[in-house]
Amino acid sequence: MEFIVAIDGPAGSGKSTIAKLLSDELGFVYLDTGAMYRAISLKVIQNKIDLSNLDEIENMLKNTILDIKDKNIILDKKDVSDEIRGREVSNFVSKVATVKLIREEMVRMQREISKGKRVILDGRDIGTVVFPNANLKIFLNATALERAKRRLLDYKKQGIGIEIETVLEEIKKRDKMDTERENSPLVKALDAIEIDTTDRKIEHIKNEILGLINKMIIDKIVVG
Ligand code: CDP
Ligand code: CDP
Repeated sequence: MEFIVAIDGPAGSGKSTIAKLLSDELGFVYLDTGAMYRAISLKVIQNKIDLSNLDEIENMLKNTILDIKDKNIILDKKDVSDEIRGREVSNFVSKVATVKLIREEMVRMQREISKGKRVILDGRDIGTVVFPNANLKIFLNATALERAKRRLLDYKKQGIGIEIETVLEEIKKRDKMDTERENSPLVKALDAIEIDTTDRKIEHIKNEILGLINKMIIDKIVVG
């Protein structure tokens, strides 16, 4: 039985942490769609791809193998899970994500990977574009300052020293690009349930969503 949970929201709202916990607990596949855009961005940077040249982009996509193994992302047979979390990719990815051709290919892959499975996907356009008929749509949010503080801690763990003001500025810039772009902007789907994670513990949010998923699964079994 296919069952799709869409988790969207801005950077640092807690999507991937919560989606991972839920997928472990439920035995669902987890698909981090942001990691896919990040991996493509890494390739664009490494190969100095001109984003205004459609032939170059098409050719790059044709010659790219993206693989998701467990929770790792493999780009052209190399595990790039750590490399894609750095600041260079973080500050470039939203530009790459505006390109229609790239989005179309990512969406095609996301649907193909999810087909017939129980999947939790997190991203920006899952509930609006990739799976507008998802069984459950969640939109996570938190204040920009809270999200910047969280990202600062993540960077610290990676040994990256940086000021909170810089992280906040980068987060706001990415929010702006993601919400204002023409193709599949970040927006809450009308039927998504919004959860503000600002002052809440991960465990509580995870349990709240778990309750919603279990209810939807029972409804689906009973109602069909
Ligand atoms: O983890 P974080 O929230 O910082 O970002 P991410 O989920 O790894 O996504 C990185 C970037 O990819 C986002 O800022 C978007 O520009 C883009 N993205 C997108 O456009 N659509 C998605 N479904 C997922 C990510
Ligand atoms: O995937 P997204 O960018 O939406 O956020 P994340 O990478 O899951 O979360 C960013 C950081 O915030 C992680 O280190 C989480 O552990 C932390 N977090 C938190 O402390 N409290 C929450 N309620 C949600 C996330």
